[in-house]
Amino acid sequence: MKRYILAIDQGTTSSRAILFDEMSNILAVAQKEVDTYYPHPGWVEQNANDIWASVVGVMNEVVARSGIRSEQIAAIGITNQRETSVIWEKESGQPIGFAIVWQSRQSDSYCQRLKEEGREAWIREKTGLQLDPYFSASKIRFLLDRHGLQERAERGELCFGTIDSWLVWKMSNGKKHITDVSNASRTMLMNLEMLDYDEELLALWNIPRCLLPKIVDTSGMLAVCETVFASAIPITAVVGDQQAALFGQTCFDGGDVKNTYGTGCFLLMNTKDRIIRSKHGLVTCVGWRIQGVCDYVLEGSVFVAGAAVQWLRDGLHLITTSAESEERARLVESSDGVIVVPAFTGLGAPYWKPQVKGAMFGLTRGTRQEHIIRATLESLAYQSCDVITAMEEDAGMKIHHLQVDGGASRNSFLMQFQSDLLNATVIRSTISETTALGAAYLAGLAIGYWKDQAAIKEQFQIARRYVPTIDPQTRERLLKGWKKAVQAAIAFA
Ligand code: G3P
Repeated sequence: MKRYILAIDQGTTSSRAILFDEMSNILAVAQKEVDTYYPHPGWVEQNANDIWASVVGVMNEVVARSGIRSEQIAAIGITNQRETSVIWEKESGQPIGFAIVWQSRQSDSYCQRLKEEGREAWIREKTGLQLDPYFSASKIRFLLDRHGLQERAERGELCFGTIDSWLVWKMSNGKKHITDVSNASRTMLMNLEMLDYDEELLALWNIPRCLLPKIVDTSGMLAVCETVFASAIPITAVVGDQQAALFGQTCFDGGDVKNTYGTGCFLLMNTKDRIIRSKHGLVTCVGWRIQGVCDYVLEGSVFVAGAAVQWLRDGLHLITTSAESEERARLVESSDGVIVVPAFTGLGAPYWKPQVKGAMFGLTRGTRQEHIIRATLESLAYQSCDVITAMEEDAGMKIHHLQVDGGASRNSFLMQFQSDLLNATVIRSTISETTALGAAYLAGLAIGYWKDQAAIKEQFQIARRYVPTIDPQTRERLLKGWKKAVQAAIAFA
């Protein structure tokens, strides 16, 4: 009986289930969108029951589509949108209120207060994170206050979880309340060195330990899924989605970097056992822990990337499909001095300026739609380049190649420009589903489906490689223009 690994990728916009075989081939895919609510400006919420329903839906659908029997699933790997926070009742399993999504700024006032108290550096030292509502701690505090849950939390009647914990709880029929160390490292409650919740941080946020899931390895015998299929299936990996993509790209060596071009851009560098504390606006977190051995990462998140292309399509109506942006950008020789800074939701790493708004510079009477389209695509590469430069400075090394995935990594114009700006090779693999694949690899490793990381690495195949084509003077001129534009956008805010 041939067996497969089932990867569940619960992302911000949709839930996906993918079946992989031992050659990393995809047998079947199922996908369902998840609704998001914006009840007030800056608030982003989802219904945790909807998320669960979408996951059950895709799990059943992928098995039905593939024609296999559920007994043929050797193991399940779960990867998830990170930081998004849910609180539910232990007894009933019902979520209380909505889940607060990672993008939401609704808990910002808690972070502001701690900034005023001068806690920023202290928190960064313990957690590796920037004091920002992006991470879970202030979201948990917000949920406890909003629904008056402090006492119930202290009595142990409630559970908190990021989406991984929520899904494992539901799949295991409430038997396991766990999170893996990669997800826990994004809560702002975990001490990066101890790899456990930090008592001083728990006291600072007034969050009782009994509310929190137990932190476990990323890969191993973690739980059993007994509520979805007729047969019980082991859950052998739980991992944050950006770390999963790093694993799926087989970035196993120190200094390996990947960039996922999604709604935003997420750049991660594997730093192995080194905890590099960023001096240039990046964050430090855990990549994965396998049999007790932990790989750390440096991460930079760009909030608006593919979302800028959507803005060209849905906001400005300059293009009708995202793919058209490449064709149109190639119709002009250059952006003709136009620079777009797409800071629609503030600037993320390495600037962390939430109040900055988007800006466009260098317009003349000769500016055409194509220049704006091209400049918008270029902005994805410029922003990624800023993060890579910060990584190089923090890690004290030059990055020679960047592995890419996500929707916009299929845009060859953009990938060439990225390579030109970085003066580094950009590598796109044959497999586009690197996030799900990373979760599958981690799940498979735990049961010997793949022997070890070396065996996985052998399966990595390059689809296309982009090498730099511009001279150093041009590169310098372009980067200087971008930096001036960013500084002007910051000054305007
Ligand atoms: O940190 C947020 C990130 O994990 C979300 O990823 O792919 O669901 O947008 P994605």
